[in-house]
Amino acid sequence: MSVNTINQNKLRQSFNDFDEIWVFGYGSLIYKVDFPFIEKAPASIKGWQRRFWQGSHDHRGTPKQPGRVVTLIHSALDECSGMAYKVTQDVFEHLDYREKNGYLRYEIDIYFKGLKHDNIKNADYKKGLVYIAHEDNAAFLGYAPEHEIAQQIHCSSGPSGQNRDYVFQLAEALRALGDNDEHVVCIDRILKQLNQSV
Ligand code: SIN
Repeated sequence: MSVNTINQNKLRQSFNDFDEIWVFGYGSLIYKVDFPFIEKAPASIKGWQRRFWQGSHDHRGTPKQPGRVVTLIHSALDECSGMAYKVTQDVFEHLDYREKNGYLRYEIDIYFKGLKHDNIKNADYKKGLVYIAHEDNAAFLGYAPEHEIAQQIHCSSGPSGQNRDYVFQLAEALRALGDNDEHVVCIDRILKQLNQSV
């Protein structure tokens, strides 16, 4: 089932105290950057793992045949890598719309891989925001074996295109970041096999 989180997100954080803030992307926000940003940097967050456990009824699937996209699941010993963007507060209008199917904005510590960016040279992490679709949202699909997830993704598409392209682009972007996320790598591999067999 789809759910619209735009109004909930508007009420979540006050942007009164700052003009600019970092937002951490771990899924399509890594490779589809359709918003203005001031600077970007490879980064990670601690205590989370990326999983294809969120349904997509509006982008990579339909209400009748939802696709699967990534969300974050608590996992104390894990670290999830991605890309952080420093943005102005007006960008959240667009991001809230884009992430409206179950994702809420959360404050999080974003750890930077290098200290080459001027404004982060005095700290290796910054407070920022991340979009997470928790298991209590109506579009959450949850665990399934990776071959079943791949099969579902293989058969799904929506207004933003084929669900499998979401996976291929994410896997490619993670490779470019030097991240060997086993879950993504496994689903990417199964999907490529499925693609070859049609
Ligand atoms: C993200 O990329 O950070 C959130 C999930 C997505 O839009 O794929």
